[in-house]
Parts: sequence; C-alpha cells; structure tokens
Amino acid sequence: MDQPLRLGLAGLGTVGTSVIRLLRDHEEALTDRAGRPLRLVAVSARNPNKDRGISLDGLSWHSDPVALASSPDIDCFIELIGGENGVCREATRAALDAGKSVVTANKALLAKHGIELAAAAESGGGVLAFEAAVGGGIPIVKALREALAGNRITRLFGILNGTCNYILTRMEAEGLSFEQCLADAQELGYAEADPSFDIDGLDAAHKLAILTSLAFGVELNKDAIFVEGIASITAEDIAAAEELGYRIKLLAVAQETDSGIEQRVHPTMLPKNSQLARISDVTNAVAVEGDFIGQVVLSGPGAGGDATASAVVGDIVDCARGFRAPPFGRPVASLKPYQRARMRAHPGGYYLRLSVPDRVGAFAAIARAMADGGISLDSIVQRNRPAGAAPRGNPDHLRSVTIITHDTTEQAVRDALGRIEGEGDIVGRPQMIRIEAL
Ligand code: HSE
Repeated sequence: MDQPLRLGLAGLGTVGTSVIRLLRDHEEALTDRAGRPLRLVAVSARNPNKDRGISLDGLSWHSDPVALASSPDIDCFIELIGGENGVCREATRAALDAGKSVVTANKALLAKHGIELAAAAESGGGVLAFEAAVGGGIPIVKALREALAGNRITRLFGILNGTCNYILTRMEAEGLSFEQCLADAQELGYAEADPSFDIDGLDAAHKLAILTSLAFGVELNKDAIFVEGIASITAEDIAAAEELGYRIKLLAVAQETDSGIEQRVHPTMLPKNSQLARISDVTNAVAVEGDFIGQVVLSGPGAGGDATASAVVGDIVDCARGFRAPPFGRPVASLKPYQRARMRAHPGGYYLRLSVPDRVGAFAAIARAMADGGISLDSIVQRNRPAGAAPRGNPDHLRSVTIITHDTTEQAVRDALGRIEGEGDIVGRPQMIRIEAL
C-alpha cells in the first residue's frame, strides 16, 4: 500500500464537519478506492472550543490556515473557509505555491481568482480541484472537463442555487413567506454565511462563471454576468405564474451567440411541464448541450453539508490516485479571452406586472406603448390590488396589470417600460420576468 495522503482541512462549518464524518464513516472503502489511506492530520478554524458534534482528537490544530496550507505535514489542503479574498485566497495560494494539491468548495474564490489559482497549480505541479464549488453533490465539473470533452458546447443552463430553489418551491407549494423559507434554508445549512449572496443571484453567478469557463474554454468573467435575484418575486407573481402554466425558477444560462457568450442569472418563468420546472426544493440541475452529445441533464442535491462533502471527498480520492487535469479543462494559456454578448439583444417572451392607477386611458396607454415598440401581446389581464386600496374609479386605486408578451427582445421591453414609466402610467417599479420554453 502506498503512503497515506495527508490532509489538512481549513473551515469546520457545515461542509467541513460533513467531510470529516464521511472520511471516517467510509475509511476502508475510500482506502480501497484511492489505493492508499486518506489521513486527516490537521485542521484549522476560527474557534477551537466550539462543539461541532465531531471529535477532533488526535488532529493537530492550526490557528493560521495559511501556515497549515504550506505545512510540510500535509500533501493536500482542503479549503472550506469561504470568501473570495483574504485568508482563503492566501491559504490556497500558499498550498499551490508549495506544490500541494488543493480541494475547495469555494465558488466565490474561484470565480474571482480561478485563473490565477489554476496558473499557480500549473507552475507548482499540484492539483486544483473544485467539484464541490458548483451544484453541491452533482458531478458537473468533471462532466464538463472530462466526460464531455469531445463536444463543442453551445449552451448550458440550470438551477444552480439550492437556497433560492428551496424558497421558491416552498412559497409556491405551501404559500409560506419569503422570510420563513429563507430562515428554514439557513437552518438546514443551505444558505451562504451571508444569504444575500443566494437571494441576489451572486452565488449562482459565481457558479455560472466557473461552468462557462469549463464549457467554452474561456477565461472566467463573473463581472460580465447579467444578474437579478429573487428578492423582488412576490406571492402575486408566483400565483400569476401558476395560473398561466408556469413556475418561477432562478435560472442560470450561458450560451454562444453571434456577439459572444451570453451569461445571465435571473428569475425565469418555465412551462410547468418542462424538466427544470419540476426541479424542486434544494435540488439543482444543469443541462448541457453539445454538438455530438445533444443534451445531457444532471440533477441532484445542490447544497447542504453531506452532498457537498460527497463532492469534496471525490476530489480528494482523485488527488490520492494522482489524477491530474487542467483545472478549467485546458492549460491556462489556452483559455480564450471572454467575449461578452449583448444581453439587451436577448430574445424571448416576457411576463410584466405593473401597478396602474385606475383612471381612464391608463390601460390603453400601456397597450399603445407596447404596440409602438413592436411588442405583440399574448395576454393582458387587469386585476384588483389586494384589500386596503382606494375605491374603484379613483386614480389612487391601483390595479395590477399582468402582461405576457410574445417573443421580443429585452431592449424592446425595456424601452416600452421606460416610456410607460416616463408618462406616469404606472406606480412603482414594473416587475419583469423572462419566459423561457426550455
Ligand atoms: N448557498 C448555496 C446554495 C450552497 O444554496 O446553493 C451551495 O453552493
């Protein structure tokens, strides 16, 4: 039997403790699979005294994760600290510069510094593995980098944030408030330390940036992603979607277009019978389209300690076996510069919800602005606002107007909404949700 792979783990949160349990529960099988023992020798976390429900006896404790990362006592550094700068970056760099392998679940770090870290892995001779950074337990990184390497990928899309999917599912199914669902997602260990990363769409954007690089062979560019989160989605939108035969999902899309690669994350209405509309709770799903494969869809638990630990330990086994692949599927020098597509050219249907004063001509003015913008309407429905509104016929009485457009462009919709807002025909900000028939 070969020498053990000596592991140093930094970050003893939900995922870190699950990784330790998994390594212990499956010790024998993992040794067989890896061809050598996986030996956790050292850990690092902020608080040495916290009860984490697991024994840390026999492990050496490092208060400084950077020192642990470059320690001669470890071969592989497991980065589960989180964050995009500071100590997580320093520790990862220290390990790679010392020629060690790094396994990380940190999508924020990779989305921002992935190319720098991949280059450090290349020059240091270590491995940079991050299956757990995208899609929780779903093996989408390996799928894109290895199994689908024969394809030219043209599009990928999916549900990449478990917390948002969990919130939207429960709001629809149980009529619970956004706040209640978010609190439950936090309790279950799905949400980020700062859950605004989840609900504002940033976490999904970090993951999409990583997948885009793997799929299209381009440099990461998270800042080029069009991002909208789910905070503006109301119970009224969810009910309207249900009535119209749709379900609202936070969708992430990357696709080739004539003007470059479009990357976007935003709430989307999907036909209820579509594959992704049926992905519920914390489950994630990613569809990949390639020229020889057609379409492949992978789905599974997208967040949570155990699912993420499954992906982390898979990478550790790879390291123990000596498996080595370029982190983003090709050497850093071969990654092409990212060329951004114009989002405003994005074609599709749109759901619009407008708060309209109850006065003569308001409804007609909206319809006219749409027609003037060349936007064909599939339906336009006026509803009363909930109780407490002013009496009917009074301009203070707001009606909710819901519009579904036929296929048009983002630019045309934004122009029409700008005109409607400018002419004072609506109150507050219009709600706009893209419709995709995926
Ligand atoms: N907060 C993330 C999610 C965890 O909800 O998907 C997994 O990356």
